[in-house]
Amino acid sequence: MAHKIIIVGIGPGSPRYMVPEALDTIKGAKVLVGSSRAMEQYGNPEGQKQFIIRADMAAVMEFIELHLPDNDVIVMVSGDPGYYSMLDAVRRSYSDECIKVIPGLSSMQVAFAKLGLPWHDADLISMHGRQPAPESLDFQPGRVIGFLTDKNNNSKTIPKMLQERGWPDSSMLGICSRLSYDDEEIIKTTLGDAAMVEKTFYNCVLVVVA
Ligand SMILES: C[S@@+](CC[C@H](N)C(=O)[O-])C[C@H]1O[C@@H](n2cnc3c(N)ncnc32)[C@H](O)[C@@H]1O
Repeated sequence: MAHKIIIVGIGPGSPRYMVPEALDTIKGAKVLVGSSRAMEQYGNPEGQKQFIIRADMAAVMEFIELHLPDNDVIVMVSGDPGYYSMLDAVRRSYSDECIKVIPGLSSMQVAFAKLGLPWHDADLISMHGRQPAPESLDFQPGRVIGFLTDKNNNSKTIPKMLQERGWPDSSMLGICSRLSYDDEEIIKTTLGDAAMVEKTFYNCVLVVVA
């Protein structure tokens, strides 16, 4: 039987937010790939072949290629594999038959849930290592946007960009940091007051409601 690359969504961080099939698959892994944090949390150093994902994607692909003939290769990704993960890169090199995906809760889903908001009409924008076209941030009455963020696009800079694109100061801003962890923070404020929030949040989810 041909072996598969199994891309497993590990959710926003805590195992309490992980689906049982993901946990079982990771527990049974003979070959496991993931970030250092995920490996520390879920790896089993005894007898398991492990690879820690850093910036070098070519090295990850080489490791997968080396081990796939003999074993399934389990790749842990944060959140859901279908939403900005290395699933894209794996699909560029392997056919559908070689890949299995186990879903996870995306940080975006969890953020909307924590804020008690539906997300079916929301626009979802990743500003994690990406810069969207400025006009994609334009204000429209009733518009809802969820953002993935990073060091530069954060809880202070994104509100300013939105104000420059016509969003009123009264728009609700939800800042969702460290979702699912013990030090999770959910702050509800407005775009006008965002600059007054003491901390700046970087790898968080922001939700803005016009
Ligand atoms: C490369 S993206 C990965 C998204 C992931 N595939 C998902 O579905 O959540 C990383 C970004 O996701 C968000 N993120 C991931 N985990 C988070 C958490 N526990 N709390 C808040 N935001 C999180 C942050 O915006 C972070 O910069």
